[in-house]
Amino acid sequence: MALPPVFDKLRLPVIGSPLFIISNPQLVIAQCTSGVVGSMPALNARPASQLDEWLAEITEALAAWDKAHPDQPAAPFAINQIVHKSNDRLEHDMQMCAKYRVPVVITSLGAREDVNQAVHSWGGVVLHDIINNRFAHKAIEKGADGLIAVAAGAGGHASVKSPFAMVQEIRQWFDGPLALSGAIASGGAVLATQAMGADLAYIGSAFIATHEARAVEGYKQMIVDCDSDDIVYSNFYTGVHGNYLKGSIRNSGMDPDKLPESDPTKMNFATGEGSNSAKAWKDIWGCGQGIGAITAVTGTADLVERLRREYAAARVRLR
Ligand SMILES: Cc1cc2nc3c(=O)[nH]c(=O)nc-3n(C[C@H](O)[C@H](O)[C@H](O)COP(=O)(O)O)c2cc1C
Repeated sequence: MALPPVFDKLRLPVIGSPLFIISNPQLVIAQCTSGVVGSMPALNARPASQLDEWLAEITEALAAWDKAHPDQPAAPFAINQIVHKSNDRLEHDMQMCAKYRVPVVITSLGAREDVNQAVHSWGGVVLHDIINNRFAHKAIEKGADGLIAVAAGAGGHASVKSPFAMVQEIRQWFDGPLALSGAIASGGAVLATQAMGADLAYIGSAFIATHEARAVEGYKQMIVDCDSDDIVYSNFYTGVHGNYLKGSIRNSGMDPDKLPESDPTKMNFATGEGSNSAKAWKDIWGCGQGIGAITAVTGTADLVERLRREYAAARVRLR
């Protein structure tokens, strides 16, 4: 099935995925003007009233870009909504998305029919992120337009599933929009997602090491300096398993290879806080396994340009 027309303006089949705390209007605008979907969690705007300002800023910047570059229009932007019951801002944040007719809404942690219908009422597209085939079925039954398969090795809350297993299973029954995430940080890997049957690569950690990302320099540099050996998969900080940079855990005085188990019932998905997580995300740095491909902190446009070059070269290689 063809992708919805909103994705026609992409110059590379990539979504810059939402990153708690880190994504901001600067990063989103740079991603979209570079030709990939830019996104951010609504919850990054704090207080809630800041979302109105941020959406105005993004909408105006992209309109100005399109006016100045009619032959190279910006890719659409996306807002991530945590639809879990612990998010008491959801109604307000959805009203803001309606006001700006946000073109793509990425929903996480529970699929909600009313949210999907609301997005459709202004012509938006909903992509729901899932970690297994059962949740994928549920999301489509509840009216999501497409899926984001979060596979093993992804930054933040990741699954333990092979990307091959996930895409193969989903493509047995679903031919709609499918993005794939987990450790993608090269143009060859973007092409591989399409070869497997997905439509779009969903990339997070690589964008943390950009000038526009709202992360401290030590975090960006650790991504440049580290590789997959430096990532630990643990539920200690939020109650849900996720991938983190071991160095940030050592900096907090703990041994990343000896972390105890956590209590999932203590998790608050809206704040990112769980039973042991006073510092999760801010000081304990989420990160996927794909960072061996990141060798420098660069501008977002330069990162996307590298991906585009590598993607083109991979296509030639496979001819
Ligand atoms: C620091 C960090 C914060 C994240 N925050 C969110 C979030 O708020 N909402 C969400 O849906 N996904 C979040 N994710 C997951 C990403 O959107 C995406 O699934 C993941 O980064 C893809 O894997 P990669 O990092 O290996 O590219 C986060 C990931 C990281 C690394």
